[in-house]
Amino acid sequence: MTPRPAISRAAALVVIALVPLVAVGPAAAARPVPLRALAAEHGITIGSAANLAALTTDRRYRTQLGQQLGSLTPENEMKWDTIHPARDTYDFTQADRLVAYARRNGMQVRGHTLVWQNQNPGWLTNGTFTRDEWIAILVDHITTVVGHYRGQIAQWDVVNEAMDAAGNLRDTIWLRHIGPEYIELAFRAARAADPDAELYYNDFGAGGVGAKADAVYDMVSSLVDRGVPIDGVGTQAHWSAVACSPCGPNMAGNMARLDAIGLDAAITEIDVRIALPVSPEELDVQADLYAMFLRVCMDAPNCDTFTMWGFTDRYSWVPQAFPGFGAALIYDEAYAPKPAETAIRQTLEA
Ligand code: XIL
Repeated sequence: MTPRPAISRAAALVVIALVPLVAVGPAAAARPVPLRALAAEHGITIGSAANLAALTTDRRYRTQLGQQLGSLTPENEMKWDTIHPARDTYDFTQADRLVAYARRNGMQVRGHTLVWQNQNPGWLTNGTFTRDEWIAILVDHITTVVGHYRGQIAQWDVVNEAMDAAGNLRDTIWLRHIGPEYIELAFRAARAADPDAELYYNDFGAGGVGAKADAVYDMVSSLVDRGVPIDGVGTQAHWSAVACSPCGPNMAGNMARLDAIGLDAAITEIDVRIALPVSPEELDVQADLYAMFLRVCMDAPNCDTFTMWGFTDRYSWVPQAFPGFGAALIYDEAYAPKPAETAIRQTLEA
């Protein structure tokens, strides 16, 4: 057996007391304060989508994610096609690894997402079930997945993108086979499975003014009135650096009306894409937009979540989803901070 080093309790305390002094020595002074620490001073959790492939293969990704961000959202790993590939099979292996990484790095996890029209397995989308069976499948999914992570998820996106642009419930397998009640069933099942997780409705194009924003507001108001357990509304915020939509005041107004009915508001998937090739001017517009929406969240008493849909341009869904666009995140492909990172930092330091 290796002998324990002879260090007295008092000496150990001195060592512990010296650690902070060492940490602010010359080497550390050159390193900027992590974004997550700056955000925490404002009661904001700054986060990013995280993808397991990058996390396992790219050391720099692994280091920077945990250093800079205080929360992660599994980008795909908790979606139905990954986590529930056959009716009687749940597969938590990928999501578990992201959750374990988050725990090791003292990060929160945003669970994403329980009910959606995309990335569903064929057994579900092609399934021929009775209405009661559809309900049983939905409730079993939520009970099992939320139950598996009980106590480990800060916020769940329970229902994602249920509204269309005109402000009607989107035509999905859930609406078609269950009816509008699927939304309320989902929230009730999620609350029962983890009473401590905050439960969110999440959508795009509904964070400002317009028919869709009004329809989402009306829908969540009605959920609140009927005692359905919902805690907040997430705005995805996949924007373009040329358009300001919604603009800051519109988003602030929408957050305020949610606050008035007791709901939190979150920015859940922000990225600001640029038409390639990138120009310095567009990087500045992008920086201004990131800073503006962070400011809106900081100013809103009911917003404590600012999550970006990735952090490095090396891995982003944008080039595939919006051909001709890219460079949507705050670190470049080599992980260097872009003007948007500086703008976020300055907004948090101001
Ligand atoms: C995207 C992922 O980033 C991609 O990797 C995947 O191919 C498609 O889905 N709204 C959402 C997210 O709620 O789940 C989507 O994520 C982006 C749009």
